[in-house]
Amino acid sequence: MRMLWKNIKGLVGAYDQPPTHLSGKEMRNFAFMEDAWLAIEDGKVVDFGAMSEFPGIVDWSGLEVLDCSGRYVMPAWCDSHTHLVFAAPRGGEFLARLEGKSYQEIAAAGGGILNSAKALQSMPEEQLLSDARERLKHVMKLGTGAIEIKSGYGLTSEAELKMLRVIAALKVEFDLPIRATFLGCHAVPEGDWTSESWTEHVIKELLPKVAEANLADYVDAFCEEGYFSADDVEAFLKASNDLSIPGKVHVNQFNSIGGVKMGIENSVRSLDHLEELSVDDLEALALRSNSGGSPLFACALPGCSYFLSIPYAPVRRLMDANVPVALATDFNPGSAPSGNMGRVVQMGMVKMKMHPLEAIAAATINGAAAMGLADVAGTIGIGRSANLLLTKPMDGLETMGYAFGEESVEKVFIGGVQQ
Ligand code: NIG
Ligand code: FE
Repeated sequence: MRMLWKNIKGLVGAYDQPPTHLSGKEMRNFAFMEDAWLAIEDGKVVDFGAMSEFPGIVDWSGLEVLDCSGRYVMPAWCDSHTHLVFAAPRGGEFLARLEGKSYQEIAAAGGGILNSAKALQSMPEEQLLSDARERLKHVMKLGTGAIEIKSGYGLTSEAELKMLRVIAALKVEFDLPIRATFLGCHAVPEGDWTSESWTEHVIKELLPKVAEANLADYVDAFCEEGYFSADDVEAFLKASNDLSIPGKVHVNQFNSIGGVKMGIENSVRSLDHLEELSVDDLEALALRSNSGGSPLFACALPGCSYFLSIPYAPVRRLMDANVPVALATDFNPGSAPSGNMGRVVQMGMVKMKMHPLEAIAAATINGAAAMGLADVAGTIGIGRSANLLLTKPMDGLETMGYAFGEESVEKVFIGGVQQ
């Protein structure tokens, strides 16, 4: 299959030699070429350039030409934080919030993550897989071309392993890159467990099994009052680092309890949420970002801020401090029941004051890098899989934020195949 996309109004994120990520201050300079063309062969990008230097078509055989006039082309979204495997929606909890209860009150009364865990524990693996499969197809149609998926709604060894096997099955079935994250410390299970005893159980019993079966690319934990302390999470991260599984942390969603510094000290790949960021936390992230070494991403989740009516992560300040920022959906049934990355990019602009190229970079190149997928996703490069978005005709990239009730994406291609 050969395709030529011509008259592209703006080609975003295309490089001869794609960088691995962009730091906060570089994000606004994500590659942008006006009036461009791009060629695809056998599902891969084989060439691109400016229309003014278009070499012409020598071989017309089997060539499909797509006129992209007025439209932008960019890498497919890279969603670096999702809980896409879950058993049931929690619309009832949403209604309870509309009737005056807070997310924390609902969770303290046995709802929230515990509610999701109950439903998941009793759901057969096959059903869990087929529901997740449909969700994944849906978000791919919306433009997601690489995705991270977490466990964490199991809260028993058996159910956590079940979730991770479902993610492993999705990896085999689907063409897009998928990263599996073992969210071992998500909530303290009901019964006699404390955060300390569950963390110890995870470290001693579960993590070795997960590592042995090669079921996780990352580990993750919820560092928050009423969930897991910075000490609990540190013990978990140390154990996973010993097994060469890097970490991510849900941190500062409601409170700043030392998770940012602890995460930095334990070499996490990303710190996610960050809605409540203290000055000290911001300084620690800035220092870390400007001290070289492998990048540590601040992953903002505006869908969660929107849905729970909590603050948005201070992304503008993070980028100004040169911290590399990623944007992700947090797709889950409790705090962000949407896997729509286009909507996340739009919120990045409207609610977090990101420039269009910053928001797109956060949702592509930096999202990919936050998943350790910089080599295969998040940018357009020769020889790379054609995971691409074609927008509707638009005046400028800012239309993706401006026309906030509209879908900006017209066509999605994963491995050169239209979704
Ligand atoms: O990222 N913060 C913790 N965990 C998830 C979802 C929690 C839930 O199911 O309510 C999140 O928001
Ligand atoms: Fe999450």
